[in-house]
Amino acid sequence: MINIAVLGYGTVGSGVVEVIRTNKEQIGRRAGDEIRVKYVLDLREFPGDPVQDVLVHDFDTIAGDPEVDIVVEVMGGFEPAHTFAKRALEAGKSVCTSNKAMVAKFGAELLEIAREKNVNFMFEASCGGGIPIIRALNGSLTADVIDQVAGILNGTTNYMLYRMRVEGSDFGTALKEAQEKGYAEADPTADVDGHDARRKIAILSSIAYGGYMDAEEVYTEGIRDITPEDMLYAEQMGMRIKLLAVSRQMPDGVCAALVAPFLVHAENPLFAVNDVFNAVFVHGNMLGDAMFYGSGAGKLPTASAVVADVIEEAQHLHEHIPCNWGEEKLELQDPQEVDSLFFVRVTGKTREEIEAAFGKGCEFVSCPSLSGETGVITPRMTHREYYAAAEKIGGVISMIRIKD
Ligand code: HSE
Repeated sequence: MINIAVLGYGTVGSGVVEVIRTNKEQIGRRAGDEIRVKYVLDLREFPGDPVQDVLVHDFDTIAGDPEVDIVVEVMGGFEPAHTFAKRALEAGKSVCTSNKAMVAKFGAELLEIAREKNVNFMFEASCGGGIPIIRALNGSLTADVIDQVAGILNGTTNYMLYRMRVEGSDFGTALKEAQEKGYAEADPTADVDGHDARRKIAILSSIAYGGYMDAEEVYTEGIRDITPEDMLYAEQMGMRIKLLAVSRQMPDGVCAALVAPFLVHAENPLFAVNDVFNAVFVHGNMLGDAMFYGSGAGKLPTASAVVADVIEEAQHLHEHIPCNWGEEKLELQDPQEVDSLFFVRVTGKTREEIEAAFGKGCEFVSCPSLSGETGVITPRMTHREYYAAAEKIGGVISMIRIKD
């Protein structure tokens, strides 16, 4: 019997209990022993729910119980999640989590404690919901030099952009629907302003490039400013607007990382990633291109990834599995120096004035239902050059980068 404790009985925590109950026999077979939920920690009571029998309110009960082998942290947020995870590892218990905020900030520290204590700290569910991307980067792709990771890493915003495109709904309506479906964070600003995606790209990049990417340093824009008019232009150009999280590592080791809405061409595999789905595109020097696709948020897909970690930790009790996440901080390129093509909507300017600002080689896009403005795709330029040109010409309504 392998005893686990689940910290938090919210959306993911109740999903973890449900996955273990539903697939009990198969999970036990794969883990090599029966997995038993000995404790669920939550401040609330759940009268009538069978979880009430194993509910505790004090983490000391779990930390001090030598029978608990694995602690599942699914509370979210920094504290007390970080303190509980740390104490569990220090007590010689393996920990797994879906908490990307905690992993992005404290991953290196918690991995180091796990290594010292000869246990494991796993976080498959922290990126891409049910998509097995961490395990792929940390195991299957270790023979490769990975130089690019790009993905749709936030299910809430992908769902919202999808609804805005197909239903013509506005930002507020789409957000409300995403919250009702249980996709969004407790504070949805983390989703819509891109912070959730930036934590995830920092985690994936840390493993892909074998260093430590500080999420706080990743230049980030969310989707708040995307309007129905932007959607019309995207349709006109045969492209779709996606919130992408992208990173590259140059041969000199310096990385470029960015989270922002992008216009994606129909030929790009990320074009067809709709609804709450996530996808992670990886390029390796031997592998070439690979893409991982699946449910990016939601109770059971996320819980499935958490329980996969529980099973692996059960298979390797007191045997540390190395993680490719390195301690050395990855140097990030100045975002102003990153180049791109930009789609810009400008009001009250002639084509000559636009070309004078953004350069010859502008491609003009007209959207018949929108008058008094001009859509333009600029030549390739750095962000610094773009912002200088936009300031010079004035009248810019909006800008969206175009994915290569
Ligand atoms: N709020 C997150 C999302 C949940 O929408 O992707 C999964 O991390």
